[in-house]
Amino acid sequence: MSIASRGTRCINPAAGRRRAAKGARAVVFAAAPLLALAAPAAQAQSADLGRNLAATCANCHGTNGNARGDMKPLAGMPADKMLAMLADFKSGNQPASIMHQIAKGYTDDQVKLIAAYFAAQKPAAK
Ligand code: HEC
Repeated sequence: MSIASRGTRCINPAAGRRRAAKGARAVVFAAAPLLALAAPAAQAQSADLGRNLAATCANCHGTNGNARGDMKPLAGMPADKMLAMLADFKSGNQPASIMHQIAKGYTDDQVKLIAAYFAAQKPAAK
């Protein structure tokens, strides 16, 4: 259909507006089932967020927490252990060269996501 022929079909502007309003209602109804899907979507989002936050550790601790050389690997570290270590870095109880600064850069929720991410990673064979 050409643009010209579509233009000539709708000569009453009010009819066009009514049609637009009906379209808007249809969008609201179509969105309702999406709200029911929001919960699993939020979980997937936090897994992504954990991975993204953990990516900031990769420069030093290796991809997915698999460090090379002397650096401490984080892959497979139990989440409780990592949370305790990061809390000690944050509070200054554990002396550090850099980790006390890094640990202060994350909220408790973010640190939990990071710890869960690394706990789920497989340590690479050395
Ligand atoms: C700039 C490099 C660097 C980055 C980035 C970095 N770390 Fe570290 N990390 C270190 C160093 C160096 C140590 C040894 C302690 C120290 O000197 O700070 C360490 C130690 C650790 C330890 C203790 C490991 C052990 O077995 O003793 C944990 C846990 C840790 N880091 C977690 C993290 C997490 C989580 C991130 C990302 C949010 C991160 N690190 C980002 C350099 C880094």
